[in-house]
Amino acid sequence: MSATGGAPPAADGLTLAFETSCDDTCVAVVDGAGTIRANVISSQGVHDRFGGVVPEIASREHLRVVNAALDDALARAAVTLDDIGLVAVTQGPGLVGALLVGLATAKAVAAARRLPLAAVDHLQGHVAANYLAPAPLDPPFVCLIASGGHTLIGSVAHHEDFTVLGRTLDDAAGEAFDKGARLLGLGYPGGAALERLAAGGDPDAFAFPSGGGRRGAASAFGRGLDFSFAGLKTALLYRVRDLGEREVALRRSDLAASYQAAIAEALAVRAERALLQTGLDRLALGGGVAANGAVGQRLRRLGVPLHVPPRELCTDNAAMIASAARYGAALPYPRYLDVDAYATGERPR
Ligand code: KG4
Ligand code: ZN
Repeated sequence: MSATGGAPPAADGLTLAFETSCDDTCVAVVDGAGTIRANVISSQGVHDRFGGVVPEIASREHLRVVNAALDDALARAAVTLDDIGLVAVTQGPGLVGALLVGLATAKAVAAARRLPLAAVDHLQGHVAANYLAPAPLDPPFVCLIASGGHTLIGSVAHHEDFTVLGRTLDDAAGEAFDKGARLLGLGYPGGAALERLAAGGDPDAFAFPSGGGRRGAASAFGRGLDFSFAGLKTALLYRVRDLGEREVALRRSDLAASYQAAIAEALAVRAERALLQTGLDRLALGGGVAANGAVGQRLRRLGVPLHVPPRELCTDNAAMIASAARYGAALPYPRYLDVDAYATGERPR
């Protein structure tokens, strides 16, 4: 399928973007210079009691609030749909039902005004959060994306795309935080709560596996860049069982701090290997785990400049989708009407 676009649009060209790949209904307005005019994030507070996102509920909630989120974004940006030049939307990966709500809404808005539509890969969106004003980072750099659904490390040579160097073979880093939090009696999602608990604990109290080479930069060179967090979660499970209820209650902070340190170590070791292997000298982050202070601290010790977008741009949002759309290809009306969502893997070409 041919497409229009490729180069960033004029600085005043406005992009309206939708992101509904998981449990946040997000609508943003971003200009061609990457300045955010509105970034509405409506979080569904309905999944906590199930200990995870329930796909069917997520889809229904998106459907319930997406039009209000759109109105809110336009109002905050002080524009109308007549001012929009491009519509962008997350095509995948994610929950298919949830993605379809955003995709159908974006198509309807675009088609009604004969606007072009850019279908954006969610992970490219996380990378492109780094391109937003007021402090954009230009390629090349290594990008570490660690969220509840994804964990990967990529080499970014151009604004348009990135090359995957390694990804998780089982759980995502955020999922590891969430599962650890659950074992320590914290709610869902538990990453931030586990970090708070860890604040009073000793990260060296317990030795948890970080999945491949806890120490040493030189010896790390040339080794794999894939992640595995399932063993870490199991190690915590066994440790909690072995310690028994009373001891766990006394040592929860130490357990949290040590578990968190192992995740930070796993991320940092892969990031260091990726920097060595690519010869790149800057590291950028994306995903909810980027908000974690211990992870940030450990990555800073790698000694290369670390670019961390503001927290609301690291977690799922539509401004990052608009940002990616500035550099990707857009389809003219009506060629996007049959674009479908994809749940896993990469964008079908
Ligand atoms: O990027 P995100 O908002 O959504 C997904 O696409 O998954 O990431 C959410 C994940 C959750 O697993 C959550 O526990 C984790 O990011 N997270 C954290 C922190 N804040 C959020 N993990 C560790 N420390 C935090 N402070
Ligand atoms: Zn995400």
